[in-house]
Amino acid sequence: MKITVLTYLDSEDEASKEYDQVVLQVARTLRRLGHRVSVLGVHGDVKRLITGLARRRPDLVFNLMEMFGDDVFGDIPVTGLLDLLGLRYTGSGPGELYLSQDKGLTKKLLAFEEILYPRFAVFSREAAFETGGNLRMPLFVKPLRSDASLGIGGKSLVHDTVALMERVTAIRKELNDNALAEEYIEGREFYVGVLGNNQAKALPPVEIDFTGFPDGVPKVMDSKAKWDERSKEYKGTRSVLAQLPDELRARLQKVAVDAYRALRVRDYGRVDLRLTDTGDIYVLEVNASCYLEKSSEFAMSAAAAGIDYPRLIEQVVNLALERYGKRK
Ligand SMILES: Nc1ncnc2c1ncn2[C@@H]1O[C@H](COP(=O)(O)OP(=O)(O)OP(=O)(O)O)[C@@H](O)[C@H]1O
Ligand SMILES: [Mg+2]
Repeated sequence: MKITVLTYLDSEDEASKEYDQVVLQVARTLRRLGHRVSVLGVHGDVKRLITGLARRRPDLVFNLMEMFGDDVFGDIPVTGLLDLLGLRYTGSGPGELYLSQDKGLTKKLLAFEEILYPRFAVFSREAAFETGGNLRMPLFVKPLRSDASLGIGGKSLVHDTVALMERVTAIRKELNDNALAEEYIEGREFYVGVLGNNQAKALPPVEIDFTGFPDGVPKVMDSKAKWDERSKEYKGTRSVLAQLPDELRARLQKVAVDAYRALRVRDYGRVDLRLTDTGDIYVLEVNASCYLEKSSEFAMSAAAAGIDYPRLIEQVVNLALERYGKRK
């Protein structure tokens, strides 16, 4: 098949282009699987995007576009454009991406399925204040839609309304996003990968081991823990295959699949969960089209299920094709 791997570039300048590891890994893997592969990297030029796709005429777009131009939510309209161009692509479409990126809407959909989520309030600039009742301090304040732990750090956990409003104001100003305050869920943290459409299946849970985390700071995957390789937070966290009794593993996997379906995620995704001392499982967020890098938690959990990287990439391709195949 002719497959184009579509990705975001930091700048439009072709000469300085540098692809993320995941782009090279996916392209190489697809070639090894016998496909004819091209990579199309675009920063924010819609014309280049359209002509690049028109020239390549792929049978399938392997979509790794995470943003567009300076817009961190630009991945949504890009999938809409792929739809308009009549192209088939891997992962979720504009509607599904919108639902899972908005952590307030996500919770409303989870509520209908009776899936637990932290009680919350949305501090929106354009809509009325939304809250699900009395919130108990401490609260965790984060951007409503941005991901990759943008805007999440030491100050995210607040114990009073003054600190709460300071964080809300900072998020609105610095990230140009609405703010979301959630009840802080103390407990173990798990990432559960899910693969599939009609018969979505959960992969073995990965646990975030906070054992080496500095004392006195809340154990959360903030931006330091995720990206700053020299920080104590980064060094103090490890992703490990979760060691769990069968019954608990099955419960985590069931919640993950239920949340994945509630959000109508397509092909693949990852559900972030917390488990309290009393055994309650809370959904923190659903990541449609999650990070697919070889050493990502998602690939790690697939490997634990006996799905090595080439087979994982192949499955994503096949799931996308099956989905389009069914539609006339
Ligand atoms: N309500 C909460 N209670 C406890 N911890 C939380 C809560 N919300 C977020 N966290 C912590 O902050 C981290 C990042 O939060 P979240 O997953 O919502 O953000 P994100 O930026 O979208 O992350 P990702 O990079 O996974 O897309 C979580 O992994 C968890 O450690
Ligand atoms: Mg997360």
